[in-house]
Amino acid sequence: MDVIRRQWLAAACSVGAGVVLMGCNPSAGDGDEESDKSGGKPAASEVSAPEDLMREHGVLRRALLVYQETAVKLRAAAGAVEPEALQKTAKLFRVFGEEYHEQKLEEVHIFPAVQKGGGLAAAYIGVLTAQHQRGRELTDYILSVTAGEKFSAITAETLARVMESLVRMYEHHAAIEDTIIFPAWKQTMTLEQMDALGEKFEEIEVQQFGKDGYEAAVKRIGDIEASLGLADLGQFTAPPPPETKEAKAEKNKPDAEKKPQ
Ligand SMILES: [Fe+2]
Ligand SMILES: [Fe+2]
Repeated sequence: MDVIRRQWLAAACSVGAGVVLMGCNPSAGDGDEESDKSGGKPAASEVSAPEDLMREHGVLRRALLVYQETAVKLRAAAGAVEPEALQKTAKLFRVFGEEYHEQKLEEVHIFPAVQKGGGLAAAYIGVLTAQHQRGRELTDYILSVTAGEKFSAITAETLARVMESLVRMYEHHAAIEDTIIFPAWKQTMTLEQMDALGEKFEEIEVQQFGKDGYEAAVKRIGDIEASLGLADLGQFTAPPPPETKEAKAEKNKPDAEKKPQ
């Protein structure tokens, strides 16, 4: 079992005190690791259905980051932003996010099962479905206004607002799915059913995209980030916080009175 899968299982097992999730044994499957080392199927090729959905959210979150950062640039200098990168981002969001992740997986396999299960998670399904629909309308708009060569200042401001509203909605949407919907969905299945669905999801992915749907999507968003100067993760490291009164007073003390480090 690879490290990422084990971490995911550990996190899923800690969701909601008292909630019993089937198959919650992060160390289970370590036998696979042995067979991997001895030349079997690579552990990374085994992706559970919930992990599949969550890593797809990762691709979509990277698209949201592109929208977020570009909205700031558009406001500062609309002429300096090439529409092409946004057009490519919206196409990726449409094909990978809306037509596959939402329409082929969530709306067919996850939402109906969670709705049937009832409780808190089921109460979210109506609004999550409405947000899928609103997201499609916003993507239509982004695709339409990024089809030309340059933005006017008026289009740039409206587009910036549309992208920011999509980011705000989808960040919350994906966070609720990751922390409430997917764990609730997992509880509706036995381990065997989840394994079977993991395979089914892979089949759907191959039908939709050919062999490497997820990997190709990761490559596409990586290329978009690079074209916009967003590929260096270090640029997003937060600056240090302002100095507090206490830190300032400590700095001004004579050395003998300073707290040992
Ligand atoms: Fe969704
Ligand atoms: Fe989702």
